Amino acid sequence: MKSITIQQPEKLVIEERPVPQPLPGEVRIRVSSAGICGSDIHIYRGHNPFAKYPRVIGHEFFGHIDAVGEGVEPSRIGERVVGDPVVSCGQCYPCLVGRPNVCTELQVIGVHRDGGFSEFITLPARNAHVVPHNISDNEATMVEPFTIAANICSQMNPGPLDIAMIYGAGPMGLTSIQALRGVYHVKEIIVVDRIDERLAMAKANGADRVINNTRLDLRAELERLGIRPTLIIDAACHPAILPEAIALASPAARIGIMGFSSDPCVLNQQAITSKELAIYSSRLNSNRFPMVIDWMTQKKINPEKLITHQFNYMQVVDAMEIFEKDQKQCCKVLLTF
Ligand code: NAI
Ligand code: MN
Ligand code: ZN
Repeated sequence: MKSITIQQPEKLVIEERPVPQPLPGEVRIRVSSAGICGSDIHIYRGHNPFAKYPRVIGHEFFGHIDAVGEGVEPSRIGERVVGDPVVSCGQCYPCLVGRPNVCTELQVIGVHRDGGFSEFITLPARNAHVVPHNISDNEATMVEPFTIAANICSQMNPGPLDIAMIYGAGPMGLTSIQALRGVYHVKEIIVVDRIDERLAMAKANGADRVINNTRLDLRAELERLGIRPTLIIDAACHPAILPEAIALASPAARIGIMGFSSDPCVLNQQAITSKELAIYSSRLNSNRFPMVIDWMTQKKINPEKLITHQFNYMQVVDAMEIFEKDQKQCCKVLLTF
């Protein structure tokens, strides 16, 4: 089979590998499409602290089960499935309290173990989720990015009284906008980014108001507009954003962060406690695949809107370059296998 491997930072090869055999409890998926994510680029460029090389990348993948390991029902062969990249032990404290995404033995497919940019992949049978027929192949490939929004929203409990503000109109900001609009029905969604084209995408995906904060003071602008956000999601993930969000938030607001920067940021307790703010962090997803598949079945979200490019996997280098460099036009890029 052919697999897209990062042999070392900056060295991508489409290499021939033996087709893997599913271990006991595993299934094998014949991959038919996969999505490119920022973290794939980080592994390619050598900027992911968790990655070990060589690595087959890709954690957003869809296909059919074509083989099962010992102990897995052979009737699963032929199922249309998407793969949850979170592989967990099932026994540690986070696993026992329903948070396998922060398992002490966490193995993320495409990061800690070989991923889905490959003609075949093996993974635990429970990580392969059946996709109903009213969800297209392309939509199914988009389940994983929406699980990130599902995970952070599930913690923050958005509702119809919320004035939501989202920093960042990249793929993560846009999936969050769609969820807040189509699933949680918040009152208003404001999106802040520095790229006008991305703000236009935010509008197309359900934002009520967009603000380009390149040259304006966001605090003064929100004051002028009379807006005090009650729910803030940082999907831009610069360390300066959390302190700003704390200052801008309404009393009793919730703030959700998902960045991995190791740079410090300075917070002031009074600003948090005096408004009794809640700050949530979110990593990957804790069993949110069924939830997102349900959103798609009920047409509460529109994943196709985010797909701007599609390439054969042999063009992966071009696809990754467009994804990386053309932030104005490009949102989600899919590879077909
Ligand atoms: P992206 O880079 O495509 O989008 C980020 C957007 O934020 C860009 O449009 C950029 O113009 C904007 N931005 C940057 N600084 C800003 C600022 N100071 N104010 C307003 N806007 C600003 O990235 P993507 O794929 O949407 O991911 C967003 C972040 O989420 C990344 O940092 C990524 O590492 C993180 N992430 C976290 C996950 C988790 O599970 N915790 C999962 C996936 C991504
Ligand atoms: Mn992803
Ligand atoms: Zn565990």
